Amino acid sequence: MKFFIDTAEIAEIRDLAATGMVDGVTTNPSLIAKSGRKFLDVIAEIAALTEGHVSAEVAATDFETMLKEGKKLAAIASNVAVKVPLTWDGLKTCRVLSDAGTPVNVTLCFSSAQALLAAKAGATYISPFIGRLDDIGLEGMELIADIREIYDNYRFKTQILAASIRNVNHVQQAAKIGADVATIPPNVVKLLANHPLTDKGLAAFVADWAKTGQSIL
Ligand code: E4P
Repeated sequence: MKFFIDTAEIAEIRDLAATGMVDGVTTNPSLIAKSGRKFLDVIAEIAALTEGHVSAEVAATDFETMLKEGKKLAAIASNVAVKVPLTWDGLKTCRVLSDAGTPVNVTLCFSSAQALLAAKAGATYISPFIGRLDDIGLEGMELIADIREIYDNYRFKTQILAASIRNVNHVQQAAKIGADVATIPPNVVKLLANHPLTDKGLAAFVADWAKTGQSIL
């Protein structure tokens, strides 16, 4: 499973890129607003930090403007993936951009029917939002499983990009189901390495090693 980092903060991306774990980055208008920076500048900087796809989301909601925005975003760098919402205008935009060779991430997916449409529109990625479904009392992970089954039934090439990930369990479950990508907030990426038994075991090894009075170097 590829790891995308769900942030518009350059320092966080740079920090995690050093671990070799960053396969790409996703942003959205809320993350850009939180960064307080200029959208086009941020995307250019992120695209230079990773060879993987960097999702940059259109702001318009009508087809003509979305297409113009998408072309402008795609021109920033060859690894920019244009993010469009899962609406009919977004799907039309997806089809045109995909046919022109631009990677497209169709976002705000909350049903398997929507995911089916995105695949038929030639999307590179479909972004089902796990956490936001959990927030309203549904089981977000069931959507990932349903989309996996449907895409496998028809051998769709669209990659399932598990989004709105809130915790370590979301990452584990998405990987178990076979999501192609998980886009993960930086704080959750850090938590992936944590386990209390690792901490306890390491403390014991360090203490026992000290008792030997030896040094490896
Ligand atoms: C990423 O592409 C999505 O926009 C993001 O994962 C949404 O996460 P949120 O539901 O925590 O805002």
